[in-house]
Amino acid sequence: MPVRSSSEGILSDERAEAREELIGMLKKAYFMELETVMSYVANSVNPDGVRAQEIKESLEGDIEEELGHARRFAQRIKELYGVVPGSEGFLAEQSFLQPPEEQTDVVHVIRGVIKAETGAIEHYTRIIEETEGVDPVTQDMVIEILHDEQGHRRLFEGFLREYEVEGIA
Ligand SMILES: [Fe+2]
Ligand SMILES: [Fe+2]
Repeated sequence: MPVRSSSEGILSDERAEAREELIGMLKKAYFMELETVMSYVANSVNPDGVRAQEIKESLEGDIEEELGHARRFAQRIKELYGVVPGSEGFLAEQSFLQPPEEQTDVVHVIRGVIKAETGAIEHYTRIIEETEGVDPVTQDMVIEILHDEQGHRRLFEGFLREYEVEGIA
């Protein structure tokens, strides 16, 4: 391995420990995005009913975006000299986005999406804090992704609001 001097910031040898820690957070983010892709594919197909249509279409549009996030996290892991983990390292966490009992239960899906987006917002906010003054490139990337997730959550909060006003949620 070549010697990477301290002037190389997060890529320098003396930053190896900070880099490892950051890669761990990026791996978690990568898996979160891929689980979201799985959940959104299922929930863009399963729901039944007139009311479900809007939700399904919205989730369908998000799938590509979340997949794009996963790919950006993967790329960044490699740039930081990490290895993108294989599927055996994956542990499912989105218990709240499993298919509901009734496929007309759109509120269940909306709440699940809000929870998934909130989880992403929390984790990415942590990465942004951790990378402050440490790795501006990763920080920049994650700020952009965080912006997307905030937009997703806001949209679904609006959907939920409609149901609340009508007394359905
Ligand atoms: Fe995402
Ligand atoms: Fe999202």
